[in-house]
Amino acid sequence: MALYRRWIGGGSDVVSSYTSSIEDDAEIAEEVIAVMKAHVSHLVERGLVPREDGEAILKALEEVRAEDLLKPGYEDVHEALEDYLIKRAGPRGGWVGLGRSRNDHVAAAIRLKLLRRIDALRASAERLICAAARRAVEYADCVMPSFTHFQPAQPITFGHYLLALAELLSDLTTALNSVRPVVDKSPLGSGPSGGTSAPLDRARLAQLAGFGGVVENTLYASSSRFFASLAASAVASALAELSRFVDDFIAWSSPLIGYVEPPPEHVSTSSIMPHKRNPVTLEVLRARISEAVADALALLAVQEKIGYGYSLDLQEATRHLWRVFKTAEEGLDVLRGFLEGMKFHCDKAYRDAAGFPTTSSDAAEKMALAGMPFREAYFEVAEAVKAGSAQLPDPREAVKRPVLGSPDPEAVRRSAMERLAKCQH
Ligand code: ARG
Repeated sequence: MALYRRWIGGGSDVVSSYTSSIEDDAEIAEEVIAVMKAHVSHLVERGLVPREDGEAILKALEEVRAEDLLKPGYEDVHEALEDYLIKRAGPRGGWVGLGRSRNDHVAAAIRLKLLRRIDALRASAERLICAAARRAVEYADCVMPSFTHFQPAQPITFGHYLLALAELLSDLTTALNSVRPVVDKSPLGSGPSGGTSAPLDRARLAQLAGFGGVVENTLYASSSRFFASLAASAVASALAELSRFVDDFIAWSSPLIGYVEPPPEHVSTSSIMPHKRNPVTLEVLRARISEAVADALALLAVQEKIGYGYSLDLQEATRHLWRVFKTAEEGLDVLRGFLEGMKFHCDKAYRDAAGFPTTSSDAAEKMALAGMPFREAYFEVAEAVKAGSAQLPDPREAVKRPVLGSPDPEAVRRSAMERLAKCQH
């Protein structure tokens, strides 16, 4: 079946069986076809192939479906596509090899697909921001302890906590927006490494394929995966941080803490202990985030040791990119469902905020603002806390701190409403 290796000979086809990317290529098959259409259209418009031949190929490209190509026996979807075109349009199908290499075409297809994944992930992030903001309005007055070192720290509100999550996701969208132009550049016309002797107009080719710009240097264009590493690193970094919120929700769902009541559709039970309500979706999310972090690392690790030019190692890197994005998209949607359906027990959280001396810093600051050097006030409060005689402010009052971004319920409501104004209701 294989097309390219025909002239090499050899009996059993270990190249196809061991090195084929055909399964992973399902991810980019549509984009490979789209890129080939742009390539052939450009060959025709530049008069580099006979018009009739070009049109016959374009017709076959209109008809081909991804599943026609994703069959065993080929090195990859590119070989399968060329073989399909030759079978479909006859020997003139072989014109597609002019001015093109799999190296520039695969890079183009990955970039186009990645742009879609970036946009889809940004949409998921925006939906999660909106869900968090909606619940932040609802829980703006809900006082709870914050935790540092997992010890009760200052009192905040659950609305304030949710806005921390929203701000992380908003930063993720900023990161995705800034990664986008690095991805949105066409490597087409860069050939295997040094370009092509076919006089292609690379800017026009980029436009036909739907790119916003061109990767200039042909070696960089065909060899670089920086665009992929950058995107995966940004997403994995956000996931690693998101995981800490997930971990809180898991801990707070334990009756030992009892702040969070997960939505029933996110809870599983035990086959033997009928009292169990396990927050299993978040447990799986937490594990998958660890895997995504490892995938981002694998993407870097596979690349970092190969000389500058395409090697098949790069093929092995790509699947990790898709895994990072899949985990992120699914994970954000799962967490959104959890947030939308969960209940937060403010009474229990308030009891902890008031039962532990969480307002000791507020007490010391009050004395300092009235004229006592802060360290003096601090020691005075420390002594009183130690002796159990401290008169500490009520957490409900203490949260009304005047600084920007504080847990003050009014500030939380205002900030959450600002985020909600950008959401579709
Ligand atoms: N299947 C490869 C990939 O996914 C593209 C083919 C490049 N192959 C080659 N022999 N130069 O990266």
